[in-house]
Amino acid sequence: MVFLPLFAFVAVLPCALSLVTSRPRQGVDFFNPTGNGGSMLDDAGNGLGEPLNVIISGLSSPGVLTESGFENYAKAIGFSTECLGIHIGGPQSANLGDGNGFVNQTVELRQDYGDSVLGTCLESLIGGNHLRLYIQNGPEADSGALFLAVSKEEDASDNHDIVPDGYDIGRDELSAAAIGTTSFDGVTYSTTGTNLTGLLAPGSAGVNHDIATDGITTLLTVIIV
Ligand SMILES: *[C@@H]1O[C@H](CO)[C@@H](O)[C@H](O)[C@H]1NC(C)=O
Ligand SMILES: *[C@@H]1O[C@H](CO)[C@@H](O)[C@H](O)[C@H]1NC(C)=O
Repeated sequence: MVFLPLFAFVAVLPCALSLVTSRPRQGVDFFNPTGNGGSMLDDAGNGLGEPLNVIISGLSSPGVLTESGFENYAKAIGFSTECLGIHIGGPQSANLGDGNGFVNQTVELRQDYGDSVLGTCLESLIGGNHLRLYIQNGPEADSGALFLAVSKEEDASDNHDIVPDGYDIGRDELSAAAIGTTSFDGVTYSTTGTNLTGLLAPGSAGVNHDIATDGITTLLTVIIV
């Protein structure tokens, strides 16, 4: 009898602490940006945009849904920061309908060809997969989801244009590398994927480089195990 109140207190304490320390999210995969003035195309600065063709669900482990957490995950699936920190091309922005309006990409990552330090230099030369990250974290739609514009690029001589069908190919190559069990720097991830239609229109209307897509967005849920 005497121990019961103490026991109850100890059981409740971790819950109370987590309410204080973690930001409340809304417990959804993501909010459709178009529902609140946003778009599933980013803004390439020329009136056109790249499709946001991969979403990392807001129901993923919170440790994945930050810039540094995502960068570690990206390294586990074959991407890394740009060659020696050298950035090629201007930033693109996106409006995720979360109340933040247009926000520049948080980070741009490139396929690292198995070397997270120098491999992206190779990508800059020979082309490869490439992504821009936007985080849906504004006050009006705080899902925490990560929206990625993924595309496969030509080599440097082609001025980093997208290969034919490069949006769909980039999305599918990233998803194929991500789904299943991966790890980097001591963190192991379990990723599941599902294809969504109806977010992006199939075709090339409004799409940068006039490259048509199949209109599919792949939703990935990433759990740290
Ligand atoms: C994005 O970054 C560029 C270059 O730093 C800047 O000129 C532009 O205003 C930024 N756009 C947004 C929407 O913040
Ligand atoms: C999504 O659709 C594309 C195109 O049909 C396919 O290649 C890919 O494997 C699908 N991804 C998943 C996770 O089902």
